[in-house]
Amino acid sequence: MATAHIDNTSDASAADTVDQAKLSTDNAEQAEQTHFGFKQVDTDKKESLVAEVFHSVAAKYDVMNDVMSLGVHRIWKRFTIDSSGARKGHHVLDLAGGTGDLTAKFSRIVGKEGSVTLSDINPSMLEVGKDKLRDMGLVENIKYVEANAEDLPFPDNSFDIVTMAFGLRNVTHKENALASIYRVLKPGGRLLVLEFSKPTSTALEKIYDAYSFYLLPKMGKLVADDEESYRYLAESIRMHPDQDTLEAMMQTAGFEGTSYTNLTGGIVALHRGYKY
Ligand SMILES: C[S@@+](CC[C@H](N)C(=O)[O-])C[C@H]1O[C@@H](n2cnc3c(N)ncnc32)[C@H](O)[C@@H]1O
Repeated sequence: MATAHIDNTSDASAADTVDQAKLSTDNAEQAEQTHFGFKQVDTDKKESLVAEVFHSVAAKYDVMNDVMSLGVHRIWKRFTIDSSGARKGHHVLDLAGGTGDLTAKFSRIVGKEGSVTLSDINPSMLEVGKDKLRDMGLVENIKYVEANAEDLPFPDNSFDIVTMAFGLRNVTHKENALASIYRVLKPGGRLLVLEFSKPTSTALEKIYDAYSFYLLPKMGKLVADDEESYRYLAESIRMHPDQDTLEAMMQTAGFEGTSYTNLTGGIVALHRGYKY
């Protein structure tokens, strides 16, 4: 099943491996295969492989986020909230919302008149999120819905804002997820996709490669006793469309007024788009 392996000691080989994996994805499309990190897998197996990763990391997900980003994921999420235009009475969908960091912030902004739907395909992540938000005293305006982003179980035109933070990368058919999000947004509604992206400088990319292919799996082993899931994280980031490609995909799905902002030198990007 696996077609490519990373040599952790060489930056050049990391880039080569990405190219090789992307190329074999292109070739594999006819054979109904897709990528899971750098591995080629049957398309219909990817969802359950991703599910295994998030079942495995759920309990340690929040602490690992702080450790591996040195807390910077909080700044990226704060920027997402500040860019969302959320206000009292809004109905927000936090898609692939996991343990609910964005949901907690939106819940306070939209108040009793509004609602936040924390939706995720993975029951373990949702369960950790539900416990955390209840412990924070956030109960009144939050709904929990287990769902696949590719086929959302919500009526057309239901949400003012949809956010997807670090989720789209894991979805098998990203174009289906974008179409589904477009359908459930109200006219005038806004999508925000916060996701790992492509560093804007070669120097940063080299440091980042060394960090993510060498240190990250070791941190995963140390903190969460799970090296493999954090290797998948590093690989899945490299396989994700870059800033301009994702913006074009959003436009193809019908989004207008699209734009993106690079954060931390493009390690992460926040994409925005509107449904008119
Ligand atoms: C890296 S976590 C992000 C969680 C949260 N949004 C955050 O920023 O902390 C990715 C989440 O995407 C979810 N996910 C993966 N594939 C999905 C899909 N097809 N539909 C909905 N959620 C999905 C996973 O279960 C996981 O909870």
